[in-house]
Parts: sequence; structure tokens; C-alpha cells
Amino acid sequence: MELGFWRDLPRPIIGLSPMDGVTDQPYRYMYKKYGHPDVIMTEFTSVEGLVRNAIKLFRDFIYDESQRPIVAQLFGKEPESFRTAALIAAYLGFDGVDINMGCPAKNVRQSGSGAALIENPKLAKEIIFATKAGLQDWAEGKKIENVPNLKQKTIKLILEKHSQLPHQYQKRHLLPVSVKTRIGYERSTVSTWIPTLLEAEPTVISLHGRTLKQMYTGSSDWQEIAKAVKIVQQTSGETLILGNGDIDSIVSAKEKIIASGVDGILVGRATFGNPWVLAKLIDWRNGVLETENSSNQSKQKSFKPGQIEPSLQDKIRLAIEHSQVYETFLSEDSFQSMRKHLAWYIKGFPQASDIRVQLMQANNATQVEKILNQIDP
Ligand SMILES: Cc1cc2nc3c(=O)[nH]c(=O)nc-3n(C[C@H](O)[C@H](O)[C@H](O)COP(=O)(O)O)c2cc1C
Repeated sequence: MELGFWRDLPRPIIGLSPMDGVTDQPYRYMYKKYGHPDVIMTEFTSVEGLVRNAIKLFRDFIYDESQRPIVAQLFGKEPESFRTAALIAAYLGFDGVDINMGCPAKNVRQSGSGAALIENPKLAKEIIFATKAGLQDWAEGKKIENVPNLKQKTIKLILEKHSQLPHQYQKRHLLPVSVKTRIGYERSTVSTWIPTLLEAEPTVISLHGRTLKQMYTGSSDWQEIAKAVKIVQQTSGETLILGNGDIDSIVSAKEKIIASGVDGILVGRATFGNPWVLAKLIDWRNGVLETENSSNQSKQKSFKPGQIEPSLQDKIRLAIEHSQVYETFLSEDSFQSMRKHLAWYIKGFPQASDIRVQLMQANNATQVEKILNQIDP
């Protein structure tokens, strides 16, 4: 099993959970800069789309060097497509490849991908092996030009991106494969699902403590996550388990990590408009912070590691910077998908509802700045 960058991460690992429509290139840039997560994943990206030359999907795979270690997340159901997509991800310089076996969205599940794989363990294993084979192809020198059915235009794009990578990331070597999944389909099946995954020896299993049927309702069952940790300890013991679901503070992280014995956590929704939640967790893990209440510096002007709460000015500054980064990185995209982030940043502001109405019509960073500068902190 290739541990790759995972071996060198501090424990417990604290990562940013992949979220489609949220963790795009600007979000990942901003949240690495202000939240410092140990690891970041892209939004899930369709392997079938990638191998069928859907050039626009490569947008999901844009990242900059500040985001490392960064993992490309893939979804789909054809093992051969995973093999090619893994080779593409390696050419693009990713530090690892993650397979989505947890998405409950109807269109994904009905196509037999995402969380539907929990009900198809044979295919799930084939997909892990195929992804590993794609990364083995990469390590052994397979050329992207020799992949059947990839169009010239796609190959050119991949080679261009590859040539822009720092030298060390152009070097061929094995990369780790991880899986992100849920505890079951209709009910928890951790006691059979985890051993099945372990047969294919993924480096990491990230486990969201909900079933597919639950979607995002109820709460994440950390006892089932603890069960998965025990199963790993009783078998190979090498695969890492990252627990996921409902972590929003040092208190919840501490309690869940200690009770379950996981090697780390992924944090998703609690980061909306709030990279500081990650920064706090990292400071806690690094021994800088004890708990949320361990400092009385909450009124400081600018957020620094070790400080507890961001000020209103910090949030305004970040909303503006995020908008500028969005414009720079995704200049061809509509500003519409930036607006939800703005709403998240201003949550809890005095005059929030008035400001939100204005922000929901903003079309660029200059307008955002003008609107937010009306606020008198
Ligand atoms: C808007 C949204 C999009 C998501 N997209 C993905 C995705 O692309 N890949 C994935 O593995 N999980 C995805 N998830 C699931 C999250 O990564 C995470 O497992 C889930 O939100 C539970 O963690 P949390 O309670 O910390 O948010 C998504 C969740 C949300 C809310």
C-alpha cells in the first residue's frame, strides 16, 4: 500500500471535506490560506466525463501550489475509466486520488456511482484496483498520448498543465488511493462494508457516519465510525480512517476523535464562510489552543493563529478577498456561484438581511467591496 504524503501528515489529520459546488479553486485557495487544513480534496469529478473529453471538467481540477497536499476526487462506475482518470490526475500533479463512494444525490446514485457502490461491493473493489492500476501505469511511464479515445485537444491540455508543474511533481512515482464513503446504504453495514474495502487496501477510508438513506438528516453516527477503526486495527491495521460528519468546533472534534480513535477528521459544512473553524482545529491539534474559551483575545483586529474569534472586519476582508480571488481564477464563470459564500460570510452581521439582498445582486468584486464598505463595524 502506497502511503505517500499521508504518512507525513501530523496526527490527528484535519482536512477540508470535498463539497461539490463549494470547494472550487477559489474556496480551496482561501481556505488553505486562512484555515491551513492538512489536506484538501477537489470537488468530485466524473471519470466518464474526463475520459470522454469533457474539457470543462478540468476546471474542477485547477489548483495552485499553495493547496498541497491536494487530492483529486473522482466518481463514476466504469473501472477502465477510473484507470484512465487516475493517469490524468497523476499527469496533472495531484498528490493522491480519492474515490467517491458516498454521494447520495439521486442522479449519481441511480447511475450506480457514489454511494450506490456500497450495494455493489464487487464493483467497488474493482474500481479501487483499477485506480491503483492507473497510478501504476503512471509510475511505470505510460504516456497519455497512448490512451485510446482521448482527443488531441484533451491530450494537449493535460500535457500543457503537466509542463507547468514544478519539476518534482512531474516525476513519476506511485500515488496513494483513498476512498470516501458512508456507513451504509439503508442502515449501517460497517461490519461488512469496511472489510470489503480493506481487501482492496486503500491508504485511507474517510467515513461519513450517515447512511445513504439519511442523506444529510439525523446525525453522524460516530459509534459506527469507531467500529470501523476497530475493524482496521483487527485486520491490516495500515489503512487510515478519517471520521466525518457534524464537526464544528474543538469541543466536538476532541470528543469524537478521542471516543472513536480515528486517525483524523474531515470538516465540511462548518467551514461555510468560516475558514477559522479549521484554523482553530489546527491550533488545537498543534497545542496552541486548549479550547475555544482559552483566550480572551476575541476583540483583536486581525485574525492570527492562536486567536479565537474573527472580527467583523476579518469577515468583510475575507469576503472581499474571496471575491477578488474568484474573479481572478474563474474569470469566465458567472459571479452567481460566488454569492452563496458572501451570504455565509455575513451571517450574523447587524443589518445582514439588507446587505444580503444587495450582495445577491453583485456581479463582481468591486461591487462586493462597495456594498460591504457601507457596514460600520
Ligand atoms: C454542498 C455539499 C456538496 C458535497 N459534495 C461532496 C463531494 O463532491 N464529494 C464528497 O465526497 N462529499 C461531498 N459532500 C459531503 C461532505 O464532504 C461531507 O461528507 C458531509 O457534508 C458531512 O460532513 P460535515 O458534517 O462536516 O459537513 C458534500 C456535502 C455538501 C453539503
